[in-house]
Amino acid sequence: MSDDAIPGHPLPVAARAPGKCILFGEHAVVHGGPELLLGIDLYTQVAVRGSDRLRLNGHPESAAGHAYLGTAIRELWSGEPPVDVHAVSRIPRASGLGSSAAFIAALAAALGAARGGVRRDELAQRSFSVERGSQGVGSPGDTSAAVAGGYLSVNSRGPASGPELWTVRAGDRRWTVRRVPDPGWVWVVAYSGIPKDTGPRVRAVGERLTGPDGPELLERFARVADAGERALLAEDREETARQLAENHRLLQAVGVSHPRLEALLEAARPASLGAKVTGAGGGGSIVALPVPGQETDLLRRLARAGAAAFAVRPASTGAELV
Ligand code: MEV
Repeated sequence: MSDDAIPGHPLPVAARAPGKCILFGEHAVVHGGPELLLGIDLYTQVAVRGSDRLRLNGHPESAAGHAYLGTAIRELWSGEPPVDVHAVSRIPRASGLGSSAAFIAALAAALGAARGGVRRDELAQRSFSVERGSQGVGSPGDTSAAVAGGYLSVNSRGPASGPELWTVRAGDRRWTVRRVPDPGWVWVVAYSGIPKDTGPRVRAVGERLTGPDGPELLERFARVADAGERALLAEDREETARQLAENHRLLQAVGVSHPRLEALLEAARPASLGAKVTGAGGGGSIVALPVPGQETDLLRRLARAGAAAFAVRPASTGAELV
């Protein structure tokens, strides 16, 4: 097994994985478009121990009762011994910041360790299969960010960013995931408090993106993601921010903004170079690129507007045993 793999470890075992923030290309990535995102330094930690029956945080759980846990146990664990899974997270739930992907990747890493270890590309595939198996739709962007940490591009057709990490499959669709160099910037994310519901939202946007104006919309999403990736690689904050705003206009056009999110974007304006909805939308969070030196002011403005705001950096590691 490579150095980078999750090593074998008997039960009890604990692992953690980071949340994520999408800069460009959410929704379009489900249909094969390019996406740029980062695993962020807010983590979910999962501990797994043997038990008399399946439990979550000490409470008896049926495999049918918790979609992600049930699917993970069905797909990654033959059920013996039954396990008690303990999860603690700094990522707000249903916020668009990758709490489910982080839970799945940390759990898959812990179960993989207990089964003798798992290669990281295999962990990315397993985590995506669990997420897709429970949600029914989606791309491997979120789970790959939880497995790899740091900046990633999915299906990049822009400047060949960095080395290919893995290819992830679902049916006959494949997504290629690459490492993208870190420009060294701090980002601010802010959760509106309105939970989003990824599955229905992805299906609704999917109807637009596969409808009569779908090809043109997908091409516009792709052009923005390409330009955003080029700007980030050139460490050009102003141009990156322009592309964030452009991507937000496309997200508005496919109906995933919300008056609360628009209010947060307005609140962010004086202290940020650019901002957008991040993730499935319809609720959830925004991401903003702060004016350098004005990070604290930006956090204050967003908190005053009622959001839970965090300054985030790329997670230096992806899923790992702790
Ligand atoms: C959700 O975080 C991102 C979406 O693009 C769905 C997905 O990629 O699975 C909206």
